[in-house]
Amino acid sequence: MILVHTGEAVVPAAQATVPVLDHGFLYGDSVYDVVRTAGGVPFLWEPHLARLRRSAAMLYFELPWSDEEISRRLHELLDALSVDDAYVRLVATRGPGPISLLPDGCDQPALYLIGRRLIRYDESLYTDGCRVALVPRLRNDRRALDPSAKTGNYLNNMLGLIEARRAAADDALFLNANGHVTEATTANVWIVEKGAVITPPLPDGLLPGVTRAWLLERCVDLGIAACEESITAARLTAADEVFLTGTIKGVMPVTRIDQASVAAGHPGPVTKRLHAAYRAALAPDSQSH
Ligand SMILES: Cc1ncc(COP(=O)(O)O)c(C=O)c1O
Repeated sequence: MILVHTGEAVVPAAQATVPVLDHGFLYGDSVYDVVRTAGGVPFLWEPHLARLRRSAAMLYFELPWSDEEISRRLHELLDALSVDDAYVRLVATRGPGPISLLPDGCDQPALYLIGRRLIRYDESLYTDGCRVALVPRLRNDRRALDPSAKTGNYLNNMLGLIEARRAAADDALFLNANGHVTEATTANVWIVEKGAVITPPLPDGLLPGVTRAWLLERCVDLGIAACEESITAARLTAADEVFLTGTIKGVMPVTRIDQASVAAGHPGPVTKRLHAAYRAALAPDSQSH
């Protein structure tokens, strides 16, 4: 069952509506973020909330709700959902207004929290790894709508995903206009070279993933060298290991890029270690999550 906190109440999704003149609907003028819970507790909630606010600020949209108010709504939704592992999508729009690009007349901003039981990726994607396609489509240039804002404009990513699926891959990887790898459609990308992990720097045009930031810090604790460096397609395909990170994906090995295997075609030791560390953080009382 999908439940929605409309700001007024928690209702089944079929009863939640968005006005047709909402600028989120008319122009994609909205921001969102996705958080998951583990054992009923939101995982990395503060950075997700901070990113939602940052994404909005990049659209000149100041969210009128306090952190406390948003957290209160989150917990009302989680109480109603009553599951250990939940998926919650927070969507903020400027609300309905005149049919004009200018948002001046939008004076009823809306925040919808959409929640459901978390649906996990198939375990085989972790044991065998996933396949990605390096699609011809580029990631949006950061001088246009900067990909570091998580907005309601995911059409380019959606098209990339369709194209990847047509190429028999699980996900797409996008280059930027300089030929540097940016990220997947809803995940950050990493490579491993001689035991060190490398992920593209934010100026290459990508979402500052909450899992990405968390993992960069964890690598320090785990004694794994980690850095942010531009990655060309040639460097990607020559890497010892490749993996993706995201809130719902966690740490997912990539074992195929287009028609070629990544190294031996099996998840590598560093990826496995980081995957285990992520799962352990989700379920601190049991390593078997
Ligand atoms: C484009 C994009 N990159 C990366 C990520 C991973 O970010 P996070 O780790 O915060 O989930 C997402 C998450 O949805 C995304 O949409």
